[in-house]
Amino acid sequence: MFFDLTGQTAIVTGAATGIGEAIAHRLAKAGAAVAVADIDAQGAAEVARAIGGDAFPLCIDITSPASVRQAVGEVLNRTGRIDVLVNNAGIAGKAAPLWEQSEEDWHRIVAVNMDGVFNCCKGVIEHMRSRKYGRIVNVASIAGKEGNPNMTGYSATKAGVIAFSKSLAKEVATDGICVNSVAPAVIRTKILEQLTPAQIEYMTARIPMRRTGSPEEIAAVVHFLASPDCSFVTGQCYDASGGRATY
Ligand SMILES: NC(=O)c1ccc[n+]([C@@H]2O[C@H](COP(=O)([O-])OP(=O)(O)OC[C@H]3O[C@@H](n4cnc5c(N)ncnc54)[C@H](O)[C@@H]3O)[C@@H](O)[C@H]2O)c1
Repeated sequence: MFFDLTGQTAIVTGAATGIGEAIAHRLAKAGAAVAVADIDAQGAAEVARAIGGDAFPLCIDITSPASVRQAVGEVLNRTGRIDVLVNNAGIAGKAAPLWEQSEEDWHRIVAVNMDGVFNCCKGVIEHMRSRKYGRIVNVASIAGKEGNPNMTGYSATKAGVIAFSKSLAKEVATDGICVNSVAPAVIRTKILEQLTPAQIEYMTARIPMRRTGSPEEIAAVVHFLASPDCSFVTGQCYDASGGRATY
């Protein structure tokens, strides 16, 4: 089987719904014991139950270093290893021009979308380095490459995720660890409820395929990047955007 994850452990953040849920299902199908990690404990439990097998819920607030440390400890106690980390949890924030964004809006989006990636990568990196194996996949956004109006905080943090992934990839390139990011365009999930219909229309109109994507289409890209088959690919940002960005 290609992209086989038998015997491996994967943590997927933001897996109680949307793209993360689809990724959790996909990695579990490939054989991984998946930690369905989310701040929404009930949602995580439901997804883990639906996946069955070795999947288990993991309560985590990625903005809190202490919560991340505890969650990583729980996974290691349970399975003794972490092969894959998918940093998928994120928020869109308020859709509004800069002059209508408060300092709180800015700090909140940086806390979830940037600090969260930092905290989770830091939480697993020593373990992965000591085992000389790891796959880290960070879910960024096409907004991080193109910059969507009314989404300064979101676009800036997602650009940050792309650059963070490139940097970390180079730091661990000789440690058997590959770090890549994925940049989806508009995907049909609950996150769209944070945006106005006009904002969604603006983003969808720029997709050459003239349609939104599905969570499963993102999970397919993540699956390759999370697998041992992804062995000579690191520091890359994979678009899953129906052709919106071709660079
Ligand atoms: N849906 C899209 O159009 C789209 C496009 C590009 C990128 N993305 C990115 O994909 C990722 C997943 O998006 P989605 O559409 O599935 O979102 P979603 O809102 O459907 O799900 C996000 C999940 O993250 C969890 N979460 C939020 N804050 C958290 C925290 N502090 N700690 C732990 N978990 C937390 C939520 O509880 C939720 O389960 C995000 O990073 C998002 O920015 C989404």
